[in-house]
Formats: sequence, C-alpha cells, structure tokens
Amino acid sequence: MQPIMASQWEEFYASHLPPPDFEDNRTLLKEFCARQSKVGQRIVLITSGGTTVPLEHNTVRFVDNFSAGMRGAASAEYFLEHGYSVIFMHRLKSLEPFTRHFSGQKFMDMLDLQITEQDTSITVKPDSVDVLAPVLLNYKAAQETGRILYVNFTTVADYFWLLRAACECLATLGPKAMLYLAAAVSDFYVPSNEMPTHKIQSGAVPNISLQLVPKLLSPVVNLWVPHAFVVSFKLETDENILLSKARDSLNKYKHKLVIGNILQTRRQRVVFVMSDDSYEVTLTREQMINGIEIEEHIVTNIINHHTQYMSVHKF
Ligand code: PMT
Repeated sequence: MQPIMASQWEEFYASHLPPPDFEDNRTLLKEFCARQSKVGQRIVLITSGGTTVPLEHNTVRFVDNFSAGMRGAASAEYFLEHGYSVIFMHRLKSLEPFTRHFSGQKFMDMLDLQITEQDTSITVKPDSVDVLAPVLLNYKAAQETGRILYVNFTTVADYFWLLRAACECLATLGPKAMLYLAAAVSDFYVPSNEMPTHKIQSGAVPNISLQLVPKLLSPVVNLWVPHAFVVSFKLETDENILLSKARDSLNKYKHKLVIGNILQTRRQRVVFVMSDDSYEVTLTREQMINGIEIEEHIVTNIINHHTQYMSVHKF
C-alpha cells in the first residue's frame, strides 16, 4: 500500500505550534458564527495586514512586509454598512476599522482640554464634531449589534492557525459566508528546526535559508469552506503581468474572484477577474480629492456578485 503523503500545508501546521491565545480565539469565533448564523446573517471574514517571519525562536528580529491594513480596515466599514457581520482578522497594530480615521496625532488635534481649579474636562473641537460623529455612530452601531469580531495575528504561523479555525466555524454558513483575503501573507519562512533559539549575534553575517510558505487557498476552497464565496487578492508591481497572474490564480484554485492591484496605484485602481469576465474599478481624480475610497466601490461590486452567487447556490 502507498503511504499517504502529507500536503505542504499539513506539514506546516505539524511543525508550528498554535499561538498562546489560540483556544480563546477559537471559542470567540465559534460563538460569533453561531450567533450570526442563528439570525440568518451574512458574514464576511476579512484578513488584513502583513504577517511576520521570525528569524529567532526568542524573536528579536523578523522579516515583515509593506501592508498597512488599509484595504481590510476600510472594507470592513463598508461591509458593515451593507448589513454584513464581519470577522476582522488582522495583523496586531495594523489599521482597524473606525480608529483608522484618527491614527497618529489626528485624534489629539480634535480635542480641547479645559483645566480649572474645580475640574478637568475634555471636549471635541466644534469643527471636528462633523468628522468624528459619523464614524462614532457607525462604530457604536457595530459594537451594540455585536456584528464585528476582532481577532489578530502577528506571525505567518498565527495567521495559518487562525484562518483554519475561522473557516471551520464559517463552513456551517454555506454560501452566506464570504472570505475576503486582503492580507499580504509572507511567501517565505525560516523552518523551526533551522531557527536559532536566541538572538542572532551581530559578529558575523548570518546565513539564513528560507523555505516557501504553502498557499492556503487550496484547502480553503476545496476542504474548509467549499460553499463559501471566496475572494482573493493579487498584488504585483509590474502592470504587464497583473492580469495573467490574477487569472492563473483563479484557474489554479477555482474560487470565485481575484482582485488584482498594483502596489503604487492600489488606492485608485483594481481589476476584478472572474472565470467569465474581467473589469476595472477605478476612482477619478475628483473622487479621490473628495475623499471617496476605492473600497466603497470594491465592496458594492463584490456584494452584487455574492448576492448573485447566493441566489443560485442554495444550502
Ligand atoms: O494593506 P494595504 O496597505 O491596504 O494593501 C492592500 C494589499 C495590497 C495588501 C491587498 O490589496 C492585497 O493585494 N493583498 C494580497 C497580496 C498578495 O499578493 O497575496 P499573494 O499573491 O501572496 O496571495 C494570494 C491570496 O492568497 C491573497 O488573497 C492572500 O491573502 C492569500 N494567501 C496567500 C498566501 C498564503 N499562505 N495564504 C493565503 O491565504
């Protein structure tokens, strides 16, 4: 009898322990999905931000990437506006929905401080109320209706464990579940057994050999959530290969939609690639000046495709 070969992604799980907070997150994910499923909600799992690749077990140094998490955080707000429930699976300290509008000094600059002998009070500056109020309103609505769950990862291994756990919970929702995989996941990693325990000393140039991180789209689409509406992203820096790479990915994994984007223009142009069609979604200069975000258009477009998908895929 032929021995059964473990796939590369199975080997990756076998050689990486789950993160310390994994069981807590798994419970949160299960409870969240069960609650949303009971009331017939559509759920989108959004992955957002980059993953790190540690170079030492006691990690001082790691390899990281450019992703700020803007795509995921902005999209989460638009999905909520359209009535979806959202699992926001993001890189710790990357941008988050709602608070992203006030990162850096912005929030401090919106406040006034009054100190008298009797008391101290803080108020929002009158000209900032119009900016803060709509964001606060949407934030409170999402919190009070319990339609958003935040879970976070840092390393590529954390990402692997969380994604599989989230898929296990989402599988029960069938076509009502959507995966919106906007995270920029590391492509290379240092195998556990080749990683030093302690900080690499700076005396000599280290010789680090990297291995390929297995793509998770295959088990996601074929095993974990076969009925869900899966959307992946493809980032390139060379316009000439973007469309073909996006189409290759769709042909290989056979999911529903790939959204292609170019690093430098990702805030104003993306290309939707489906099995039978492809089209661009772009912002005009005027829309950009007026603060329109491309994620608003991406999300509206995707929801149309998801609705159509649900109408022909009953569960
Ligand atoms: O965060 P921002 O600064 O706003 O930028 C947004 C973005 C450019 C990161 C985003 O729009 C984007 O393009 N993300 C995907 C980047 C990419 O090219 O991924 P990939 O080709 O390595 O992977 C293809 C798809 O599989 C992606 O949807 C990825 O999330 C997913 N993937 C990849 C590897 C892996 N091991 N598991 C995965 O699930």
